[in-house]
Amino acid sequence: MNLTRKPLISGNWKMHLNHFEAIQIVQTLSYQLDDNDYQSCDVSVHPPFTDLRSVQTVLESDRIPVSLGAQHCHFEEKGAFTGEVSAGMLEKLNVKYVIVGHSERREVFGEDNEMVNMKVKSVFKHTMTPILCVGETIEEREDGQAQSKVQNQVKAGVTGIGKERISSMVIAYEPIWAIGTGMTATPADAQEMCAFVRSCVHEIAGSAAANAIRIQYGGSVKPVNAAELLTQPDIDGALVGGASLDAESFARIVKYRLH
Ligand code: PGA
Repeated sequence: MNLTRKPLISGNWKMHLNHFEAIQIVQTLSYQLDDNDYQSCDVSVHPPFTDLRSVQTVLESDRIPVSLGAQHCHFEEKGAFTGEVSAGMLEKLNVKYVIVGHSERREVFGEDNEMVNMKVKSVFKHTMTPILCVGETIEEREDGQAQSKVQNQVKAGVTGIGKERISSMVIAYEPIWAIGTGMTATPADAQEMCAFVRSCVHEIAGSAAANAIRIQYGGSVKPVNAAELLTQPDIDGALVGGASLDAESFARIVKYRLH
């Protein structure tokens, strides 16, 4: 955390919670968070596509200052892409953040760096903010390849994007071996890799972009480890999976400064 960058705490619900459950969890979350929390952190939730309209309606009608997020999108505007959703469709739901290139999309659904880059461009074109995910497998880490893997993903992800836009985006460093495993990176390792991501941005887009860009850590973030991770100088928030499915534990992560 750095004083000039407001942390962003994002809940990635993955394929969990139907739209009835989504409404309930967002309302419970709103009772747990107050103005102080929203002043010190930006908060987003990323429900499945089928929940987006319901969550949008609750957030807007109850004036809850939580941003609506999506988990992915297609890079084309429209067309014969059965099952896909375009960035333009998300924009119409007032989605603010779109997760792009999550490791599950890369590993399970075969998204490569080129597709991820096209998605980043499409998200920007529709005036939303991409959360670009990067991270290494355990084999790559043990092989000493963590930095080169992450550097390639960052470079490819922002290819052709202007400096201003790069500074406004979010990168989530998520070591694949820490996702959903309960095996969090140590605060020192997470800090080292987030600082490395920032140095990659510096090389690509200069110091202003490197200072402004928000870099989240993700991978088994829980209320018990949030404070030690989020107080690292180059970690500007968290991308939270499992612990975001419970309003109380997600709220405790947002309130990490109180622990
Ligand atoms: P986790 O997931 O918090 O359940 O490890 C993080 C993510 O996949 O973004």
